Amino acid sequence: AAAGGLALSARAAGRTQASPSSASGSLVFDPDGYTELTTTVTDTAGTEHQVTYHFWKAITYVAKPVDAKYQSLNVSVPVEIDGVAVDASDAPILLANTVGGYMPSTVTEATGVGASGGPVGGGGGAGGGTASTGPAPSASASAPGANGNTNANGGALNTNQYLALGAGYVVVEPGARGRTLVNSAGEYYGVAPTVIVDLKAAVRYIRANKGRIPGDTDRIVSAGTSAGGAVSALLGASGDSPLYDRYLEELGAADASDAVFAAGAWCPITDLEHADGAYEWNWGANALTTGKQVDAAVSKALTAQFAQYQAGLKLKGLNGFGPLNARNYDAYLVRQYLEPSATTYLAALSDTARATYLAANTFITWENGKASFSWADFLTHVGARKKTAPAFDAFDLSTGENNEFGTGTTAARHFTQYGLDNDTTGLTAKRLDGDIPELLRLMNPMHFLTGKPNAGRSRHWWIRLGTKDSDTSLTVSANLAAAADGLGDRVDHLYYWDQGHGANTDPGDFIAWIAEVTG
Ligand code: DHB
Repeated sequence: AAAGGLALSARAAGRTQASPSSASGSLVFDPDGYTELTTTVTDTAGTEHQVTYHFWKAITYVAKPVDAKYQSLNVSVPVEIDGVAVDASDAPILLANTVGGYMPSTVTEATGVGASGGPVGGGGGAGGGTASTGPAPSASASAPGANGNTNANGGALNTNQYLALGAGYVVVEPGARGRTLVNSAGEYYGVAPTVIVDLKAAVRYIRANKGRIPGDTDRIVSAGTSAGGAVSALLGASGDSPLYDRYLEELGAADASDAVFAAGAWCPITDLEHADGAYEWNWGANALTTGKQVDAAVSKALTAQFAQYQAGLKLKGLNGFGPLNARNYDAYLVRQYLEPSATTYLAALSDTARATYLAANTFITWENGKASFSWADFLTHVGARKKTAPAFDAFDLSTGENNEFGTGTTAARHFTQYGLDNDTTGLTAKRLDGDIPELLRLMNPMHFLTGKPNAGRSRHWWIRLGTKDSDTSLTVSANLAAAADGLGDRVDHLYYWDQGHGANTDPGDFIAWIAEVTG
């Protein structure tokens, strides 16, 4: 798909209807409570489309919000595209979360579709978050928008939302509480599992308003990137699980299904309690950006944990590959994802550009229109790893994930036994806090796709990851895909060659995929 710059010129036009979208405590969607806006959407072929749409802003989606700034959603419904009236009353609904870094995300200041500021505290968009506790997850600022779509904040963000609107879909953008929120009593009120509880409440709100809210409430397609990809996958995996009921009741969530039809996840930062091991298995040989190596003993111990975990999963690879384990996963990644990814990339180049690339990357053999290379050479090609060891449950409690598992007035906690065992902050406890296992269960899509699979899960999965993304292990999304595939679900998973964290280089394909799976 050609890169097409999207010039967003959202402006209020025409009538503005009554505002506060939901009266306090009411979860009834007001069909008339919109503003009419226009915007220009440039599709992936570079063609501009004039889109008139109705925009509902800052609708609080729970009856008893803890913080409505975050527990609110925006709705955008196209009514005219290129001068032709469109009826989106039965269109698929793209539920695009704006979560990044497990940070709070709000849409209440948005001036139109895709124009939310993204994670609070960041420059907007996935992973832009700056942590107030521990180091920021420091995602690249190039989160979705690889085709050049921009929003009112000037960032290259929210491509999926624009393209979906231009394709005639309904777009719902929910905010959600996030890990850095602290109340006046010093309590962290946006830590796990609030992000997923909030997003589920948003889904329930949409479902409960079937017939009032435009769009087909049985065709909700979730999307998100990075931490947002993790919670999008979790939304897909955990649909209608009773495990969340008490949290949802507490918020006064609408009484309706929270299952979603399909889940899109870009570079999902998920399976957190196993991610440290997976990270060392994958990137353990790679030096840090400082040129230094991580602690070899730590890396080795974690790698051994991955071997045990992966064997226990008993997941088969896609396309007939046998059970995945720590010994064959490199071959699997190379064959199933990395070589095809490089092949796609190289095939799209001109002969000259391809020759130049291959001359600069002699580890790749290009034969009969196919790229091949070894895992070791691939790792060298990627270069510096982004994170130290352990990557997620840091001994000094400094990661965003440590904060995500905070509780009460405790900003950060360990969520792995290994992290706790090696704690450097002076903790004396020998065991993880008693609530940690349940939080891990509630936060990890893998628990709903392995063992006894969750019946209410999505049956359609779109998963994407850059080959140079060392924010987590390349096995994380591959395991997600393998788990869903093993259950017979439809899985579309590929890796973007040489792309880093947050990439979305085939957004037009995602929009077409939505039409296909919901059609
Ligand atoms: C994100 C990135 C990370 O590296 C991480 O650990 C968690 C979240 C993000 O970009 O959302």
